[in-house]
Amino acid sequence: MKESMQDAVARVDEDRLWQRHMQMAQIGAIPGNGVNRAALSKEDIAARKLLIGWARARNFPVSTDAIGNLFVRREGLDATAPPIMTGSHMDSQPRGGRFDGIFGVLAGLEALEAIDAAGVRTQRPIELVAWTNEEGGRFPPCTMGSAVFTGARRLDEFLEVRDNEGVALRDALAATLAATPDAGKRELMTPAAAYVEAHIEQGPRLEMEEKTIGVVTGIQGLRWFNIEVSGKTDHAGTTPLALRKDALKDALAIINALTELASDATDTVRFTVGRMLVTPNSPNSVASHVLFSVDLRHPDLATIRRLGDAVEPTARTATQRCTIKVTPTLHDDPCTFDPLVVGAVERAANALGLPNMRLPSGASHDANYMARRCPTGMIFVPCENGVSHNEAENAKPSDLAAGARVLTATLLDLADR
Ligand code: GLV
Ligand code: MN
Ligand code: MN
Repeated sequence: MKESMQDAVARVDEDRLWQRHMQMAQIGAIPGNGVNRAALSKEDIAARKLLIGWARARNFPVSTDAIGNLFVRREGLDATAPPIMTGSHMDSQPRGGRFDGIFGVLAGLEALEAIDAAGVRTQRPIELVAWTNEEGGRFPPCTMGSAVFTGARRLDEFLEVRDNEGVALRDALAATLAATPDAGKRELMTPAAAYVEAHIEQGPRLEMEEKTIGVVTGIQGLRWFNIEVSGKTDHAGTTPLALRKDALKDALAIINALTELASDATDTVRFTVGRMLVTPNSPNSVASHVLFSVDLRHPDLATIRRLGDAVEPTARTATQRCTIKVTPTLHDDPCTFDPLVVGAVERAANALGLPNMRLPSGASHDANYMARRCPTGMIFVPCENGVSHNEAENAKPSDLAAGARVLTATLLDLADR
């Protein structure tokens, strides 16, 4: 490893990185050590301000684009060269943990600071990005910020998406952007030379195999749908069952049929109904309307396409008395990361003497969209018992620091190519 790289890596500060995680975890803290920091909420705004404060303390310029992705830049010798980008997200699940997403943002900032403190001049600029609404827990679908930044989706497709309280994304986004008025303006779809994202694994493999670093090879395919079932509300005590159009009863029949569709002896298919809105949601009124989500994943292209394409026909066949509307909200084929970035991550982990293994990602990430635009890869670190999307999510300070060191070395490797 070059001396300048060694110097930068040595300046990754485990304690600072951990303390920043703990400070961020106070924003939206919930019982059980968890975090509820919904995208474009007042907690998200507070996290953005904290990050901007840390960036400005180092004189790193900050900017935002039209969907609120937040960029922190360290200039390169060639200011016009497409940057090497790193980052992740600061929003969380409603009952999320202290590390999902925020680790990649804080590790990226740690890398920028370590490189800066070592005085290393890179050919290309290096940019940190905190993507807007990676989780999709408040405003479905997930990975929205990177989808719009990369041009895979248009911003106007999402402006009317509403949260469970009926707030439109358009208004929450305007409020979020207005809260950081002195950030520079950044265009969508600006080119990047490479992208590398650090994240907790969110699964048990690294811990089980006693590895500190996961060299991520790709992300499995993902399809999301909203299914709306429309029936008629009636009195629960008086209306004979034979006369009802019970939207919840039909929704259950559809979910059972989809569960059957997704059943798989190898336990590779992932099928989740995690969100359900029932109207009028009263114990003694028959449900007139149900909206529920479908999240379906598989690593194999042909399989995820077959399963995804079968969702609507399966739902229609299972529907009994109501009418349904099936809306696909996300369609991401499996992605394979670029050997350039995968190789750079693996070299960095080996050079630092960190036990590592290659593995695919079961969770989705913004790296999925960046992989369509530039060579992309990811770095995983272990999390306790593989638990994630849960308040109990936990990770070790030393593993987080190891991930930030691998990230620092990887960014430096890529920034001079
Ligand atoms: C991201 O949080 C995902 O759902 O994979
Ligand atoms: Mn995440
Ligand atoms: Mn997540």
